Amino acid sequence: MSGFGIVGTGVIAAMHAAAIATLPGARLAAVTDVAGGAAAAFAADRGCAAEPSLDALLARPDIDVVCVCVPSGLHAEVGVRAARSGKHLVVEKPIDVTLAAADRLIEAARAAGVTLTVISQHRFDPGLIELKRLIGDGALGRLLLAEASTKWYRTQGYYDSAAWRGTWAMDGGSLMNQGVHYVDLLRWCMGPVTEVTAVCATQAHQIEVEDTALAIVRFGSGAVGTILSSTAAFPGFPQRLEVTGADGTVIVEDGRIVRRAFGPSAGTDPGAGAGPGAAGAAADPAAIDVASHAAQIADLLAAVEEGREPAVDGQAGRDALEIVCAVYESARTGRPVRLTGS
Ligand SMILES: NC(=O)c1ccc[n+]([C@@H]2O[C@H](COP(=O)([O-])OP(=O)(O)OC[C@H]3O[C@@H](n4cnc5c(N)ncnc54)[C@H](O)[C@@H]3O)[C@@H](O)[C@H]2O)c1
Repeated sequence: MSGFGIVGTGVIAAMHAAAIATLPGARLAAVTDVAGGAAAAFAADRGCAAEPSLDALLARPDIDVVCVCVPSGLHAEVGVRAARSGKHLVVEKPIDVTLAAADRLIEAARAAGVTLTVISQHRFDPGLIELKRLIGDGALGRLLLAEASTKWYRTQGYYDSAAWRGTWAMDGGSLMNQGVHYVDLLRWCMGPVTEVTAVCATQAHQIEVEDTALAIVRFGSGAVGTILSSTAAFPGFPQRLEVTGADGTVIVEDGRIVRRAFGPSAGTDPGAGAGPGAAGAAADPAAIDVASHAAQIADLLAAVEEGREPAVDGQAGRDALEIVCAVYESARTGRPVRLTGS
């Protein structure tokens, strides 16, 4: 039996608790939060303990894995302390908001010999698993072009709901928070990015960060692509990844393949049902499916058991963050940004 602790009992913590509850051999032991009463209310609803501090939670011998569900700019700070206490780590995306913080967290996990996974739950969506398999099997041929698009909508009230939202220090903008999921999927499917040219804008919200980011990217393979992320696209649309190879194209919307056409007899296939339109997280940050979080947490437990790296390790989280940071730097300087592409 693996015991879990959750740090930060806000919106996404509920998803972690629900995911843990679906996993045989996993049990939520305790939670903690800095906001008065938040942990106690969360714990009462779920039959676990509420600890008064992070130190108290980390001191519990019945906790093997800590889910880091605090604001993004605190992920490394909390994660490093948990790693030093010998706890395995499920860290929400993005890994943190700076590469220096990401490096501190990855190094702390390595030094402590604990396993770190950074949430990118859509890698476990059926359509993404299938797309990755098709690419691996060479069904699309040499990869040429990819487009990752997150046209979502968030109200000003969403940004006003917590002081950390929409700040550079703790959150980042639409790309760092919402778009990072499909940045990771783009990187996962297409390989390393070597160059980014971007523009960002803040148009529909009173926030210091961008609510729309657009980028053109070049991959190490020679393929090219685009990234679009917005929280200003009323009413919100499915997240979309299109991958085109020399032999065909696959389009994924909200984790399902909605169109595929490849091979000599290239036909079309609606895939496993039409996309769900503007439902889900397109307009509501809490409306995400528990199955993919559960699959990623199950992978972390299997990785610990088998002594292997998890499917989405710290480096993968860092790779996605590096692309996001390059988009911001290019938008700021008006120049293309080169990445190592490793
Ligand atoms: N994977 C996804 O689809 C997804 C969806 C939503 C949010 N997230 C990520 O989850 C993280 C949290 O987002 P949220 O929407 O749940 O935020 P939230 O504001 O609803 O919850 C964060 C909680 O952390 C608590 N907190 C702050 N500092 C703390 C500290 N030092 N120690 C303990 N608790 C602390 C706050 O009091 C709050 O209750 C963010 O990094 C966000 O990017 C991921």
